[in-house]
This record gives sequence, C-alpha cells and structure tokens, in this order.
Amino acid sequence: MPVDIVVGGQAGDEGKGKITAYLAAKNDYDYSIRVGGPNAGHTIFYNDRIYTLKTTPGGFVNRRTKLVLGAGTYIIPEWLEKEMKLTGTAGRFIIDPHAVIIEPRHTAAERADSRMMGKIGSVGTGLGAAVRDRVDRKKLLFAKDHPRLKKFVRDVPELLNKALAKGSRMLLEGTQGMKLSNLHGEYPFVTSRDTTASTFMGEAGLGPKYAGEVYAVFKPYVTRVGPGLVAKEMTDKKKLNKYHTAGREVGSVSGRLRRVGEFEMSVALQTVRINSATKLAITHIDMLEGADLSRGVKSFTGEARKFMGTLEKVCAAYPYPKVSLVSYGPGLHEVLEL
Ligand code: IMP
Ligand code: MG
Repeated sequence: MPVDIVVGGQAGDEGKGKITAYLAAKNDYDYSIRVGGPNAGHTIFYNDRIYTLKTTPGGFVNRRTKLVLGAGTYIIPEWLEKEMKLTGTAGRFIIDPHAVIIEPRHTAAERADSRMMGKIGSVGTGLGAAVRDRVDRKKLLFAKDHPRLKKFVRDVPELLNKALAKGSRMLLEGTQGMKLSNLHGEYPFVTSRDTTASTFMGEAGLGPKYAGEVYAVFKPYVTRVGPGLVAKEMTDKKKLNKYHTAGREVGSVSGRLRRVGEFEMSVALQTVRINSATKLAITHIDMLEGADLSRGVKSFTGEARKFMGTLEKVCAAYPYPKVSLVSYGPGLHEVLEL
C-alpha cells in the first residue's frame, strides 16, 4: 500500500526524524507529509550538517520528494520560512488551506498559563492555545489566509488522492508518541492532539484504505522532557550525564535535559495495537553496551542483545510487527536493516 507511516512509541523524541529521513532517502517517496505542531522537533544529520527542524517533513533529504503539510498542521510562519531557507526547500512545499497559523497571541497565552507551563510542562509554542481556538470555533488564521504562505496552498486531499490514483508513494510522519496522546496517553500529561497513525492519516486528508507499513519507533529506554510517568527514573548523575551528552538527550524545542527511564513493555504493546504497527524501528541502540556497529559488526552482545531479545514480546502482539531498522548513531546512514 502506498502510504507508509512513522509513529512514536514512547514520550516523543524516539528518533522519528532520523527514521523518516532514512526511509525517504532509501525508498524515494514522491511525497513526505507531516502533521502536528512545532512543539515537536526532529533532528536530522545530513550532508555534514545537523538540522533541528520543527515543521519541515523529514523527507526533505530526498530532493525529488515533495513536502506536504496537512490540515492537521499548526504553523508558526516565521519558523517555517527559516527552515525553508536553511534547507533550500521552498520550491517543494505544498500546504493544505486549512493548516492553522499559530499567532503570537496563542504563544503568549500558553506561556502566561502557569498551569500549562508548570503542571503539564508545555513546550510553550502556542499549539495548545491554537487547538483550543479551533475546537471553540473562534476566529483563526488559516494558511489560505496568510499573505506569505498562501502561495504554497493547494487542495492537499485532492492532490494526494490524484497522485495515489497514479501510483505515487508517500511517507507520513506525525509528532510525539504514545504516552503523549491526548486520546490514549497518560492524561493529563499529554499534548493537545492524538499522536497515532489513524489520526495522522485523517489530519493529512487520507482515508485508512491507503495505509501501508506502519513503523513504530522506540529507543531502548524512555525519555521525557515534561512531567508525568517515567518508569524506574534514572537519578544517578553520572549515568544521566552520558545520556545528555553522548546520547544528545536534550529537548530540541524546549532545551530541557530529558528525564530518562526504563523501556516500558506495556506502552510498547499499546503502541503496536493502536497503530497497527507492522515494523519496529529502534534508535539509540549505541547507548547500550554490546552495540558497537560502527565497526561493521552486525550482531549484538551484552545489554544490546538482551534488549533485542525483549523485543520478541513486542513482536508477539497483533499485527505481529517485525524489527526492521536499528539505528546505531545519528548519521543518516547509520542504520542496520534486519
Ligand atoms: P505541549 O504539547 O507543548 O503543551 O506539551 C505537553 C506535554 O507534552 C509536555 O510534557 C511536553 O514536554 C510534552 N511534549 C510536547 N511535545 C513534545 C515533543 O515533541 N517531544 C517530547 N515531549 C513533548
Ligand atoms: Mg523531538
């Protein structure tokens, strides 16, 4: 089926950006689609540069791929324009008329809300305030109304469906992960939207019939930038320091040091079920002992082997996903295909 989907299986920051970019480089999709808000950042190492992006779809690394923002996207225009310049991708963007503009008043309202910023740990981009205005049917600025963005606007559902009819292939990425889903996650410590595959399809204007492979992305451990549950949270400063330095576990939008905890089997099983995951993509395996794949070793020992073993239980959940990709470093091509 023509639309492959990338979802997060934990509390965001699983490395969806890297996996999306890798798949786009390898599979040569015609369209790379992103939905969600700029509260989520993805970091992509490409051509000796590190790109920390909030709105640009990860498929930008493939120059042939068109970049689409669906109706379920929330945009801070200045941030998007900066990214377009940085990546040289303005000519490849297509935006749905009903993508919402996050206005300065949204950002200000969220940042002034001490409950949101404190108890919930909001990233403070204004996404939540914009979503709330949309639910309340208040006056909003859409991409079609924006003086500088309207030139990118096309009827995305029509365009994508016409492309599907001609056999085009697409990669759809959403933001955040299972634990942060407003529907299925650890409410109230969640974001303002659902973060699962079916919602991403709907937010892009695609029906369920076209879903192809669903890649659920996991790290061998869980990180969280905000408050909420972290199983067996790591407190040892020395160990944590390794995650914050070598593991680069610092919020790419929030700048906060990420909390670190154990891999949670129950959340992984929930991720497989709710997303109908068909593939598992593991990132940051290099944080475990026994996974030094950079020297061409293709098998795991020690801690890494033990972790790969625990994935068998995840693969035993319907629809029985297969471990497909294992990322062992930040570089775009540092991926082992199983
Ligand atoms: P908000 O969506 O910015 O309001 O944040 C709500 C909660 O989700 C907070 O705990 C945030 O830290 C968390 N969150 C939001 N976006 C991300 C993300 O992209 N990665 C990790 N955590 C996130
Ligand atoms: Mg992130």
